[in-house]
Amino acid sequence: METILVTGGAGYIGSHTVVELQAAGYGVVILDNLVNSNPAVISRIEKISGIAPEFVQADIRDVEALAAVFARYKIDAVIHFAGLKAVGESVEQPLRYYDNNVRGTMALCQAMTDAGVFKLVFSSSATVYGPDAPVPYEESMPLGQPSSPYGASKAMAERVLADLCASDPRWAVAALRYFNPIGAHASGLIGEDPLGIPNNLMPFISRVAVGKLAELSIFGSDYETPDGTCLRDYLHVVDLAAGHCQSLLALQKPGLHAFNLGAGKGVSVLEMVEAFESVTGQAVPYKIAPRRSGDLPAFWANADKAERELNWIAGSSLEQMMADTWRWQSGNPDGYGQGSD
Ligand code: NAD
Ligand code: WQD
Repeated sequence: METILVTGGAGYIGSHTVVELQAAGYGVVILDNLVNSNPAVISRIEKISGIAPEFVQADIRDVEALAAVFARYKIDAVIHFAGLKAVGESVEQPLRYYDNNVRGTMALCQAMTDAGVFKLVFSSSATVYGPDAPVPYEESMPLGQPSSPYGASKAMAERVLADLCASDPRWAVAALRYFNPIGAHASGLIGEDPLGIPNNLMPFISRVAVGKLAELSIFGSDYETPDGTCLRDYLHVVDLAAGHCQSLLALQKPGLHAFNLGAGKGVSVLEMVEAFESVTGQAVPYKIAPRRSGDLPAFWANADKAERELNWIAGSSLEQMMADTWRWQSGNPDGYGQGSD
């Protein structure tokens, strides 16, 4: 049985990926400092899979802790989710973001080198294409100039990984450029649980529906899109998790391999609200608010390369994503905060 180290495995995408890895027969070690997650997720994972993942509470920048993990477990590959992800916060705290996301990735790669582990799956983002890229985004496009320190930290980390691969043919890295993951595991036991007021659309909608927030502000209705609101490429987090399992298979080939993981079509903010209301029967009061600074009008993936090379598609319907989001949110109105694990 191969064993995968999952950094950030207690987080939103990481926890869903751990469940998929366990189902595919991998052993899993989670390393997470819990800066943006709750330890209750570990027992929820066990409830779903019947298998308790190994859990190490540590920071990816803690060189000794990483060395101890590689010494204790025979790790075959690493899936690296650990990082900070709030775009607005990254503008206010750039050093913290570069330190965590870039230096953290470098520290992890050094520890992997020292331990002789050279297979890595990295959480990148559609934001690396930058604001001027034409849609749909394709992997063959050059990395752009992302407008936030968060986005720049992902582009920088990809550059570090590309240089590492060029320097040593033992390295095989998949840089997975996620579009907009939403939804939750069908069990309703794990899902997205942002601290405080959500920045992202889907958790905001579901918290309005569950009565935790009064109304949604739709940021701009005068974009040059069919209904005036922004278009994004939403994909189910469980499909995204499966993409990580598929990408492990691509690590037989050395070098850096970039893949867009998206559904390949744009959905507007208003369509999202309507789909949620019609699937769940819950009203989502909203108002039209000014544009949010830095938002792009529309982007979506060309995900053909992932289909061709990884045999992966984001197959879940928008309705499924809405139903699963609501099962999680309505069953856990306080997220993991209730401590009812
Ligand atoms: P998340 O915040 O839920 O998960 C990240 C996890 O990493 C958290 O559990 C956090 O505690 C942990 N972490 C952060 N810094 C750490 C450190 N220094 N050491 C150890 N653990 C640390 O976020 P997510 O939505 O699951 O995202 C996972 C990854 O995917 C991130 O790298 C994010 O930037 C990237 N990504 C997310 C999205 C999205 O829309 N959610 C889109 C594109 C890329
Ligand atoms: C989606 C749409 C908003 C909230 C961000 C990061 C990106 C990626 C995912 C990691 C936009 C609108 C939102 C609200 C709204 N993360 N909206 N009211 O902006 O595509 O991407 O998260 O890599 O890097 O930039 O996602 O969910 O924030 O917004 O109207 O309260 O919903 O304007 O059009 P976004 P989002």
